[in-house]
Amino acid sequence: MTVKTEQIVKPARNIAGTVRLRGDKSISHRYAMLAALAHGTTKLENFSSGADCASTLACIGALGARVNRAQNDGVEIEGTGGTLQAPTLALDCGNSGSTMRMLSGIVAAQDFSCELFGDDSLSRRPMKRVVEPLTRMGAAVETSDGGKPPLRIRGGPLRGIEYFTPVASAQVKSLVLFAGLQAQGETTVEEPVATRDHSELALRAFGAEVHRAKNRVSIVGGQKLTAIEAFVPGDISSAAFFLCAAALFPGSSLVIEAVGLNPTRAALLDVLATMGVRTNVVTLEEHHGELIGTLKVEAKALVGTMLVGAQSALLIDELPVLAAIAPYTKDGMEIRDAKELRVKESDRIAAVTQNLRAMGAQVIEHDDGWSIPGNQKLHGGEVDSHDDHRIAMAFAVAALRAEGETKIKGANAASISFSEFWELLDRVAER
Ligand code: S3P
Repeated sequence: MTVKTEQIVKPARNIAGTVRLRGDKSISHRYAMLAALAHGTTKLENFSSGADCASTLACIGALGARVNRAQNDGVEIEGTGGTLQAPTLALDCGNSGSTMRMLSGIVAAQDFSCELFGDDSLSRRPMKRVVEPLTRMGAAVETSDGGKPPLRIRGGPLRGIEYFTPVASAQVKSLVLFAGLQAQGETTVEEPVATRDHSELALRAFGAEVHRAKNRVSIVGGQKLTAIEAFVPGDISSAAFFLCAAALFPGSSLVIEAVGLNPTRAALLDVLATMGVRTNVVTLEEHHGELIGTLKVEAKALVGTMLVGAQSALLIDELPVLAAIAPYTKDGMEIRDAKELRVKESDRIAAVTQNLRAMGAQVIEHDDGWSIPGNQKLHGGEVDSHDDHRIAMAFAVAALRAEGETKIKGANAASISFSEFWELLDRVAER
């Protein structure tokens, strides 16, 4: 199916069916980057189909890894053994903050200079959080315009540091660990909230020793990585759109197969449980430390909830879709402590407010979230993705329960993380 830049979403009467999702975006980035540093050829099945992970593959290719993308969902990456080649051109990270930030930790230890740039959205995103730790480790990092991309990095020998991340960010933790892997001595990262731990698990899968205690992670530099064969679990942040769609229809019957259930990513399941949606885990396996399972969803009348503090940090990618379904809950939702949403692919707080209002919802916008009353009836309208994949998909979900059709402008943004979204949504939405 060709994805149009505009999509019309018609209301649904139910959600039913079985879906299997392409590989997790966060895990795909990490496996690809570590594969580039490893000895040997890494074979990845169910690699993310999103444009963001394609940006990572193009960048590691430019850095000397041999990338072979099969017709199906597989990718083979012949690693460099740890010594990357200087890229002849600046590295294009596209829309992907993960590519720019995590890759900066990889190239900072290499004996060359390079530049990382991105599209308009990425060019507005904060990079001081990258500059600070890498500079302390001994790299020279320059930004433009008070801490914005492009990043110019002069790499070289790094020293291990102890680093307290000021923001709860798995990307920052990861870039420090990736730099630490190549640094002299030990590197420790401590975070205010324990964020997704895919980097720790991936480093171990590739053979590195990583020590963890509460919110602290340490790695000793100079360890060699060895290629792996791995299946990338289905993306739970993509599954979130289908879980929330099913949540809107009591009696819906949805099965999601082979989806990642890493506990640092699965907070949505607990939140949905408090909102009246049961997700039964019907199978569970572990691959390279990552949990993978099949979920069966049972929805009842949807009640609201309050999300604050650490919970908001753990649900950061799922908050737009939770906010988009909030007006349909019985008691509404209060979502706070989520200021980071303002510096994602778009200002997601403003984008959600604008789109909810375009559909006739009442919403109070705060600096760090929203108060959204429940029991509201929404009408179809014209909403805008702001070229942000999660905003496009969140409002496709909201549109399923609205009265009348909804036009989503910039709907093709979904393919940043989830190319099959529109096709799968059509398949499970009964009309
Ligand atoms: C990601 C971490 C989060 C998340 C992003 C992916 C990762 O970003 O929003 O989609 O893969 O580590 P931050 O680290 O900026 O919170």
